[in-house]
Amino acid sequence: MGWVAEAVVGQKWGKFTMNSKKDNQIRLHDFNPGRDRFLAEVLSGLRKAQKELPSKYFYDEQGSHLFERICTLDEYYIPRIEAAVMETYIEEMVELLGPRVLLIEYGSGNCTKTRILLDHLHQSAAYVPIDISRTQLLGVTKQLASDYPGLEVLPVCADYTSGFDLPVPRRPSDCAVVYFPGSTIGNFDPIPAKLFLEHVAGVCRPGGGLLIGVDLKKDPRVLHCAYNDSQGVTATFNLNLLERINRELNCDFRLDWFQHYAFYNPREGRIEMHLVSLRDQTVHLDNVAIPFVGGESIWTESSYKFNLDEFEQMAVAAGFKVEHAWTDNQQWFSVQYLINTGGTTL
Ligand code: AVJ
Repeated sequence: MGWVAEAVVGQKWGKFTMNSKKDNQIRLHDFNPGRDRFLAEVLSGLRKAQKELPSKYFYDEQGSHLFERICTLDEYYIPRIEAAVMETYIEEMVELLGPRVLLIEYGSGNCTKTRILLDHLHQSAAYVPIDISRTQLLGVTKQLASDYPGLEVLPVCADYTSGFDLPVPRRPSDCAVVYFPGSTIGNFDPIPAKLFLEHVAGVCRPGGGLLIGVDLKKDPRVLHCAYNDSQGVTATFNLNLLERINRELNCDFRLDWFQHYAFYNPREGRIEMHLVSLRDQTVHLDNVAIPFVGGESIWTESSYKFNLDEFEQMAVAAGFKVEHAWTDNQQWFSVQYLINTGGTTL
């Protein structure tokens, strides 16, 4: 209620009023951007020559559920392999993290992998889950608070690519560790990705680090199947973005006139997700008419895949040192601990 937070990620400076609400003893630090910002970002994306929408808006309540369903699909190998890597090397990981850790998670989602960490951390000081999906965030916070009675959980509802402040825990900590699993770093284009890592380096300060999940380059057919699952859950997840825009921004997208299209772009090393217009049509959004020709697409997500050395180059450029990279034996996915070499502070 009423304090103004400033934070930066990349070039986007934001000033947001934080709302602090008490919901059954949970104090939610709320920086959620709200409808005006959503509308502005959607409008500017749809006015570009190559229409685009920010992938962070996938995660409304419905979208978060759909993403959880994606995570149970065999074809979407990421959560399965990431969890296996975590479980195999968790002792080594917590050893590197050290004691009395303040754990800050960007995009906490349903916190499945976080539990592996919380189960093994030596006397964690506090846990700060940051997520754009308020309902899910409140739900997992309640659950974690009851499953880990000694743990101080301080949820922050925010779009972590813009402005927010971190809450201050009661207990002192020895270091701040940022946890960024799932290879969500792959959703950023190369320059914003580096800026984002620089921001994180500032958050974890010298002495702390970043534990990050990074998806690796592999057979494009495996990647293709992961984003074109046979049950069509990814397609529904992609189309849900239009449904959300219809619902929240009073728009008239016809979902049956758009089609999910995802492919691996080997030159750029990324999966691209699009929604392709199946015909000439005009969509109306806040009194703006947006024309589509048949075959034109809205680009809704990129998901970059890395080589270990490519990722290391970017991490080093952002002020990190790769302390360790753990992988599965097929080298499909990596979990890496990066430490701040001391150059940058927020
Ligand atoms: C949660 C952003 C890592 O890019 O693989 C899953 C989202 N998109 N299927 C990804 C997603 C389509 C996912 N991330």
